[in-house]
Amino acid sequence: MKILVVGGGGREHALCWKLSRSPVVTEVICAPGNGGIADCARCVPTPAADVEGLLALARHENVDLVVVGPEAPLVAGLVDRLDEAGIPAFGPSAAAARLEGSKAFSKEFMVRHGIPTARFSAHEVLDDALAEIDRRNGPCVVKADGLAAGKGVILCASPAEARDAVRAILCDGAFGTAGARVVIEDFLCGEEASILAICDGTDFITLMAAQDHKAAYDGDTGPNTGGMGAYCPAPVVTPALRQQIIAQVITPTVRGMAADGHPFRGILYAGMMIDGDRISVLEFNVRFGDPECQPLLAMLESDLAPVLLAASRGALKGTTLAWRDGAALCVVLAAGGYPGNYTTGDEITGLAEAAAVPRAVVFHAGTRASDGRIHTAGGRVLGVTGTGASLREAADNAYAACDCIHFNGMRLRRDIGHRALKSLERM
Ligand code: AMP
Ligand code: GLY
Repeated sequence: MKILVVGGGGREHALCWKLSRSPVVTEVICAPGNGGIADCARCVPTPAADVEGLLALARHENVDLVVVGPEAPLVAGLVDRLDEAGIPAFGPSAAAARLEGSKAFSKEFMVRHGIPTARFSAHEVLDDALAEIDRRNGPCVVKADGLAAGKGVILCASPAEARDAVRAILCDGAFGTAGARVVIEDFLCGEEASILAICDGTDFITLMAAQDHKAAYDGDTGPNTGGMGAYCPAPVVTPALRQQIIAQVITPTVRGMAADGHPFRGILYAGMMIDGDRISVLEFNVRFGDPECQPLLAMLESDLAPVLLAASRGALKGTTLAWRDGAALCVVLAAGGYPGNYTTGDEITGLAEAAAVPRAVVFHAGTRASDGRIHTAGGRVLGVTGTGASLREAADNAYAACDCIHFNGMRLRRDIGHRALKSLERM
C-alpha cells in the first residue's frame, strides 16, 4: 500500500511512524509534513488546507489510501472530493464532519438522539443570547459555533463574563465567521477523558481511553492550549464507564449519523466530562486528538494500515485491535510564550540523545529541517512519548528523554498524568 497522510503536526508524525512500520505499506507520503516526519515519510509541500492540491497529489501518486489528520480539510470536503475521484480515504465527509465543524449541529444531533450532553441553546442574535444569559443568571459556558483552533470556548463564572463573551464573539468577530453563532451551555464539573472510535459508517472499534492536559501550566492553571500532554489508558474511565460511553454515546452517534443520511467514517473523538457515574459529552472531534494520538499509537500493537483501509471501505466488522501492556505518556515541549506569541527558528539540540533513551520516542510537531539541523517552527514543537509497564515508568521514560532536549525558551509541564498517578498511588 502507498499511503498519503495529510497534515504536519505531532499527530501526523505518529501516524506516519506507525504506518511506515506496517509490513503491507511500501511508502508513506506526507503533505506537508515537518522536520521529523521526513525520517519516516516522503514530505511533499502541499498545505493541508489545499483541497484541490491534495486531490491532484493523491491522483498523481496513485495512492491506495489517504489518511486525513486535521479537521479543517475534512470540514472543507476533502474526503468528498477524494470519494468522487474513487480514491479511498479515511476521514468523514463534510456533512459528517459537522459534528466538529458546528457546535450547534453537534448539540442538536445529541439532543435528537438522546446522547448525554450539557443543556444548551444556540443564538445568532445578540439580544437573544443576552436574554438567555439573564434567564440562566449563573455560571455558563459560551462557545463559538465553528472551528476556532480549540480557542472558541469561554468558561464564564458570572453572567457579566458571559455577556462579554457573547459580545466578543457575535459583535467583535473574535473568532471570525466561526462566531456567527454562539452556543451557551451549562457549566459541568468533573474529570475529563476522551474515547476515540475508528468508524466505518456502520461499525466501530474503540481505542483506549486517553486524557489530555489542555491548560498551559502545571496544576492545570493558565490559558487553554491545544494540549500540553496526554496519556493512556486513563483509569478514570473504568470498564463500567467505558461500556456506558459505548452504549450511550458512541453507538447512538454512529447509528444516528447513518440514520440521518451522513454515515460517519473516520475517527469519532468523544470528549467526555465524568462526574461519578454521570457522563456527558463536552465535544465531538472528527479526527485523532493531538497529542492523544501519540501515546495511543505508541500503545497500539496491531498494524494500523489494514484497519484504516477496512474502515474507509465500510468493512470494519470483525476487526479487533491488540494493545501493548502498561501505559504511554506524552509530554509536549512548547515554545516560550505559547499559546500566546512565540519565536520560531531556534535550533533544537539533544534529539539523538533523546532518541537513545529506552522506551521513548520523539514526534515532531512544529519543526523544520535544514542543513541537517532541526529548528523550531511552531508553538507546540515536539511531543515526547514514553512507554512503560506502569504509568509511572512511562512518565519517567518520557521525562528522561525530555531532559536531553534543549531549545531557546523551551517550556513543558512537569505534571502530565498527575490525576492518574495520584489515584494509582492511593490504590
Ligand atoms: P471543547 O472544545 O468544547 O471541548 O471545550 C474545550 C474545553 O473547555 C474542554 O476540554 C473543557 O475543559 C472545557 N469545557 C467545554 N465545555 C464545557 C462545559 N459545558 N462545562 C465545563 N467545561 C467545559
Ligand atoms: N487535544 C485535543 C484535540 O486534539 O482537540
